[in-house]
Amino acid sequence: MNVRQHWEKVYGTRAPDQVSWFRPHLETSLTLIERATRGDRDASIIDVGGGASTLVDDLLERQYRNITVADISQTALEVARKRLGKAAESVRWLQADVTQTVFPAHSYDVWHDRAVFHFLTKPEDRIAYVRNAALAVEPGGHVIVGAFGPEGPTKCSGLDVMRYDAESLHGEFGPHFRLVESLQELHDTPFGTTQQFLYCYCAVEQ
Ligand SMILES: C[S@@+](CC[C@H](N)C(=O)[O-])C[C@H]1O[C@@H](n2cnc3c(N)ncnc32)[C@H](O)[C@@H]1O
Repeated sequence: MNVRQHWEKVYGTRAPDQVSWFRPHLETSLTLIERATRGDRDASIIDVGGGASTLVDDLLERQYRNITVADISQTALEVARKRLGKAAESVRWLQADVTQTVFPAHSYDVWHDRAVFHFLTKPEDRIAYVRNAALAVEPGGHVIVGAFGPEGPTKCSGLDVMRYDAESLHGEFGPHFRLVESLQELHDTPFGTTQQFLYCYCAVEQ
């Protein structure tokens, strides 16, 4: 089974709130996106590997008007679209493998990723991801990446994952991305367990 087939199967067989990464609202992500956009509701935001998460609902609720959700799974995007109904029409939905897609150059003010980068266990995939992010984000824009922390799980959704502290996660991105802040979060899964997440909030050098 390839990566896309894996995720199509997950979203085709599991309820969106019955996966370990589900939380009703992505509070840390919302706080960092608010900080990055400084009140600009026209800011261009991409949620990479957004899946069926409610981040897009909350961004629309906060009047953001320029949102793209990209995911390798078309099924995940359909779940989110259906939930949003008419509001989904104002969002750009993109079925894409982030390691293989060249996004339009300098077209996003904020690149957001919660729980996707840590699935990239091959160095060449991480290099491709970072190259794609560097090209896609407007100089002066921001990158928010949330991955499993040093004490996070070693597997998720049956797949091996990487774990990072702030230095190693930022190190994957390099000096073109200036680390503004890193923070840890303990995520309560729907199954009563907790997972340590580590977020890096970076500014893309001009
Ligand atoms: C653990 S889920 C996180 C979903 C969402 N970001 C959240 O926080 O609820 C990982 C997501 O990454 C997507 N994904 C995995 N590999 C990907 C890739 N190479 N390109 C784009 N999306 C990918 C999966 O389909 C899935 O929706």
